[in-house]
Amino acid sequence: MNNPLDTPVSRRDVLIAGAASAAAGAANAPATAAEAAPAPAPAASIPRAKVTLNVNGQARALDLDTRTTLLDALREHLQLTGTKKGCDHGQCGACTVIVDGRRINSCLSLAVMHEGAQVTTIEGLGTPQRLHAMQAAFVKHDGYQCGYCTPGQICSAVAVLDEINRGIPSHVSADLTARPLLSAEELRERMSGNICRCGAYSNIIDAITEVAGVKA
Ligand code: FES
Ligand code: FES
Repeated sequence: MNNPLDTPVSRRDVLIAGAASAAAGAANAPATAAEAAPAPAPAASIPRAKVTLNVNGQARALDLDTRTTLLDALREHLQLTGTKKGCDHGQCGACTVIVDGRRINSCLSLAVMHEGAQVTTIEGLGTPQRLHAMQAAFVKHDGYQCGYCTPGQICSAVAVLDEINRGIPSHVSADLTARPLLSAEELRERMSGNICRCGAYSNIIDAITEVAGVKA
């Protein structure tokens, strides 16, 4: 019996076999990329919903793909681009807005969850001619460099002072039953979800402290 390993196979034979195999694979493959891709869903099958938000004091009616985040509704549908998209994963705080008095990461929340809600963005806090006290304090204390995180920082800071005034404790509050201190430690803890890659943290604390009316 012949040992197959003894059968002489030339380099030419190997190349011919390889080319034949590749040609067979190509014959079975879809002719175009369009054939390979799944057919797009017909527009009618994409769930949509009507939602009305009260944004910066104005009722705004929207007809949205139900998967639209509040951040995209604000930026892409209402052209309120003051609110920034940083990570889009709830990790940086650049997208912070105030909804019914509470700060939230708008990238992590669907717009349809906020029917009838009062939404305040950086555009609703003040205007260039008439800054909100927190905006003026950030300017005065250089609480920013590139400014990308700043709208989220300011919305968060406004909500933080409200939380403290309402007596809501944080992870570093020593006494959960007493009104939290307006200390730098409290402010740092409460602002820890707002990342600043320029590292303006100490100036941000100075700005918030000034608005809170206490010395750092
Ligand atoms: Fe929302 Fe970063 S963009 S947390
Ligand atoms: Fe640049 Fe904060 S000012 S990231």
